[in-house]
Amino acid sequence: MNLKLAVIPGDGIGPEVMEQAVLILRKVGDIFGHRFEFTELAAGGTAIDKFGTPLPDATLEACLNSDSVLLGSVGGPAWDHLEVSRRPEKALLRLRQELGLFANIRPAVVRESLRSASPLRDEIVAGGVDVCIVRELTGGIYFGPRGRRGGGAGEEAFDTEVYTEGEVRRIAKVAFRLARERRKKVTSVDKANVLDSSKLWRDVVTDEARSYPDLELEHMYVDNAAMQLVRNPGQFDVLLTTNMFGDILSDEASMITGSIGMLPSASLGTRQEGMYEPIHGSAPDIAGRDKANPIGSILSAAMMLSLSFHLDREADAVESAVEAALAEGFRTADIMSPGKRLAGTWEMGRTIADHIGKNHRRKETI
Ligand code: IPM
Ligand code: MG
Repeated sequence: MNLKLAVIPGDGIGPEVMEQAVLILRKVGDIFGHRFEFTELAAGGTAIDKFGTPLPDATLEACLNSDSVLLGSVGGPAWDHLEVSRRPEKALLRLRQELGLFANIRPAVVRESLRSASPLRDEIVAGGVDVCIVRELTGGIYFGPRGRRGGGAGEEAFDTEVYTEGEVRRIAKVAFRLARERRKKVTSVDKANVLDSSKLWRDVVTDEARSYPDLELEHMYVDNAAMQLVRNPGQFDVLLTTNMFGDILSDEASMITGSIGMLPSASLGTRQEGMYEPIHGSAPDIAGRDKANPIGSILSAAMMLSLSFHLDREADAVESAVEAALAEGFRTADIMSPGKRLAGTWEMGRTIADHIGKNHRRKETI
């Protein structure tokens, strides 16, 4: 395949981890015979410094004209003083909106090799944790009517949670289809005991579930879901929820794995493009020091191969190469444990790239 990829390195550790994802994709291209054409684009804080805006028009245009978008991370304390509409995060929100990326897929897996990294007691994670959060990404309180008015003690500010039937139904479909390929259970998370928007959410999800009689659907209030995630995370398969609840629960789920630097995510939408990014932030405290874990970014590239381009063999090769590097004992600082081999960003990336070659050659000779 010939594929045009928009690459947004972003801020903090974004550029370092992105370099490794690109290295891996080049290797995949060489071995499996694909041509990836990378176009590097500015967004986030770096774009504010250079162009005075978090999302330059040229970046948006190039993303719209690409087959897929890879993103490092955006944000950092240097831009914290800016008002909400001019902050680096705005680039992310606009990209989601303009590219129509309504479905955010965030898997959180406790890998056997990294089980000890989980902050939860071993007996809680021993049975296996493999949750996939499906978060609605272009609606709800992030994009509803908002404002600030009045002054003094009467000054008010408001943000509004709004969902339409259609928005709920299309994200529910994504969750149900995904559950079919997994353990066939969907937990829909809302606050239907208090919010009208959640009541609509629950009604529509329940109705949509009628088309998937082979699946199990359960509803759970968000406060209970937050508790169940640390009490018994193994009970979840696909967790379907709103933009805001998904933001919060996906951070909680990622922490359970103990290795937020390892987790990828995909944002999928109405157009062919998807956007792929590690779920970790820009970690400015370790930026530029060859310390960041590139695996979240590398696995995001693997998700892109499989979800946007159906290159499942290639995605599997990347997955296995990551496992192989971990099995050899390589660990970046965030997942280091006694007796393992401390690796920097580059060494981890190169080790994984080497394994892609080795694994594939082995398969060829069998
Ligand atoms: C995330 C982030 C973003 C969000 C921010 C950076 C706008 O926290 O992707 O989870 O809230 O969606
Ligand atoms: Mg978040």
